[in-house]
Amino acid sequence: MIRVNENYLKLKASYLFSDIARRVADFQKENPDRKIIRMGIGDVTEPLSPAVIRAFHEGVDEMASASTFHGYGPEQGYGFLRELIAREDFQSRGADIAPDEIFISDGAKCDTGNIQELFAGDIRVAVPDPVYPVYVDTNVMAGRTGNNAGGRYESLVYLEGTRANGFIPDLPKEPVDLIYLCYPNNPTGATITREQLGKWVDYARKHKALILYDAAYESFIRDPSLPRTIYEIEGAREVAIEFRSLSKTAGFTGTRLAFVAVPKTCVAYDSAGNGHSLHALWNRRQSTKTNGVSYPVQKAAAAVYSPEGRAQTAALVDHYLSNAAIIRREMTSLGYDCVGGENSPYVWIDGKMGSWEFFDMLLREAAVVCTPGAGFGACGEGFIRISAFNSLENVQEAMERLRSVLK
Ligand code: MLT
Repeated sequence: MIRVNENYLKLKASYLFSDIARRVADFQKENPDRKIIRMGIGDVTEPLSPAVIRAFHEGVDEMASASTFHGYGPEQGYGFLRELIAREDFQSRGADIAPDEIFISDGAKCDTGNIQELFAGDIRVAVPDPVYPVYVDTNVMAGRTGNNAGGRYESLVYLEGTRANGFIPDLPKEPVDLIYLCYPNNPTGATITREQLGKWVDYARKHKALILYDAAYESFIRDPSLPRTIYEIEGAREVAIEFRSLSKTAGFTGTRLAFVAVPKTCVAYDSAGNGHSLHALWNRRQSTKTNGVSYPVQKAAAAVYSPEGRAQTAALVDHYLSNAAIIRREMTSLGYDCVGGENSPYVWIDGKMGSWEFFDMLLREAAVVCTPGAGFGACGEGFIRISAFNSLENVQEAMERLRSVLK
């Protein structure tokens, strides 16, 4: 008799964004003439930049001729891309990351979900609340939690982000082994200073813990005082793995390219207390379970790092940031308390009522989709997240609609 992995039965019936998509589809069916403006899931709307498209086409053309054709690529990613990333994203910021410490993949969602395979089943895991649901659900699937009791899984340590702490959780009171951090934060848009991040690195060093640092929104940082990578913090190379993505940086949500930095100095311990290289284990995992990302996509990704590609992708990010500024300004002027939207594409808004109630009201009365904060955890209750990934016209129209509903 085939038996099910019962850990899956502990999960909520559907993933947050699937749940929202279903509600929106139902609304559209009942109201076929309403033009819905989607500011829920953070999915980019603007096309790939010209430099990226050109390189993408060149990559496809190379596949059309036997002399330039590419079969299986290296599971870790092509050297030309790993070298660019190490130099441009890390070494240029004083972070000591080598090309062979970079692993190319098709998404930070997959990487942050897959990495926990490397750790024992009984480690203590700390997740922020509110949180990107992937960190929680993948640990549930792996059996590291008990049941969901009142919206929280038993055995997970929840690091509470609140208005009072600026959505930068305090260090855990009990020792933990694995810590998920994400800055600029999804969903709150909050950012972390070097000093605050330094406390987490010190904590991890002291407790032989590991930080999984999700920096998927790093390119939205405009404040030069903020850290762009955790490896700007002294000692982080021993205790942190960093996740990045071109999804939001360069409009790759439909193209798929991300990467993870796994320093050779990061270890996890066996039951006898011996350290094992996480770099070696991740390399083993990747070479067993994936053949990587297609050649044309990696070629397109490399173009993001060309002078032209840099300027064009920075302009894309600037576009979303100026949308975020409009959302933040409008919601503030309507009397709502906002976080984020300055070095982040997300504006986190205190809705002054239940999150799902606010979500339903905006959908029904304004045909605008947001994300209910409660979907990101108990501390998100009462908040909604509005995403700035849209055209300027849609953002302006959405704000007009919100103004007439909320004023
Ligand atoms: C979000 O809306 O939180 C993101 O788009 C989710 C993701 O990147 O997977």
